[in-house]
Amino acid sequence: MIRSVVRGFGASLPKRVMTNREIEEKVDTSDEWIVQRTGIRQRYIAGEGETTASLGEGAARAALANAGLTPADIDVIIVATSTPDNTFPATAVNIQNRLGMHHGAAFDLQAVCSGFVFAVTTADAYIRGGLAKRVLVIGAETFSRILDWNDRTTCVLFGDGAGALILEAQEGSGTTADRGVLTAQLRSDGAHKEKLFVDGGPSTTGTVGHLRMEGREVFKHAVGMITDVIEAAFEATGTTADDLDWLVPHQANRRIIDGSAKKLGIPLEKVVITVDLHGNTSAASIPLALNVAASDGRIKKGDLVLLEAMGGGFTWGSVLLRW
Ligand SMILES: CC(C)(COP(=O)(O)OP(=O)(O)OC[C@H]1O[C@@H](n2cnc3c(N)ncnc32)[C@H](O)[C@@H]1OP(=O)(O)O)[C@@H](O)C(=O)NCCC(=O)NCCS
Repeated sequence: MIRSVVRGFGASLPKRVMTNREIEEKVDTSDEWIVQRTGIRQRYIAGEGETTASLGEGAARAALANAGLTPADIDVIIVATSTPDNTFPATAVNIQNRLGMHHGAAFDLQAVCSGFVFAVTTADAYIRGGLAKRVLVIGAETFSRILDWNDRTTCVLFGDGAGALILEAQEGSGTTADRGVLTAQLRSDGAHKEKLFVDGGPSTTGTVGHLRMEGREVFKHAVGMITDVIEAAFEATGTTADDLDWLVPHQANRRIIDGSAKKLGIPLEKVVITVDLHGNTSAASIPLALNVAASDGRIKKGDLVLLEAMGGGFTWGSVLLRW
């Protein structure tokens, strides 16, 4: 059977680092409060000329170089983002053009912080359905541009950045020994919309709006949703937490990551954590974390890697893949 195998990875971050100390100068908060409640120590913030498309292009170029491919080798680009450069066209066509690519198809996908998991799942369906041989999957965000910088309950949490994977059709045997995506589990429930949303949009206010969140409510639901889709991935593949080499969670909050790992019996030595460096970069957080752990040699070819995320909507999902 056809499997969607990781052929390359890459990432791109804005030039500017913003530490918790700098945020102390903007709102009534402290480095100690932020670290203790979230694990975040710094985040990257896009400056003039840096946009979701420019960061996405950087991640795409890095992934192409890592794979030893050129844009001519790509059939489809999927960009997971909630912070597009424009309402339309899609950031994906912007990135396609920046790459000098004028063939194939490019589109955006919006599932907020679960966006990368939804995008990998979509790419896998395209590849296994025979619609594409190679898909460039990008998670790219500039959440700093939709934050209310006077709201200390949200502005301390998020950051900007982009990461990318190239998935390629390769023949597999149909067992969990195959490299590539082994299962994907996606969920959403719009009943939770008001708990995490942006209070603007083209068809409502005609403005971009700002991120609003009931942090405690999100926290309350997070661990249950994450364990739901991880257990579903184990069940679908007959694997267990013991089989995992790496858990690469969406990097929203250190306490959510620790709580989920504990509930699932996954030791923290097997969990990739980058929330301290990047903050919550929404759809970019998983590919940014993958880039760190694959670049430093932790994630190796053949490793069993579990991705999971939850976010606005709510949306939540997991992807189990062999690297
Ligand atoms: C946001 C979050 C860190 C807040 O932590 P919490 O322990 O739930 O804190 P609370 O919201 O109950 O607020 C506790 C107190 O800290 C205060 N506080 C909130 N933000 C603060 C900040 N940045 N600095 C200092 N104090 C802050 C509150 O005003 C409150 O004060 P009060 O007790 O005087 O009213 C936590 O709820 C969380 O992580 N939620 C999930 C968010 C998330 O990951 N969202 C993205 C999902 S993709």
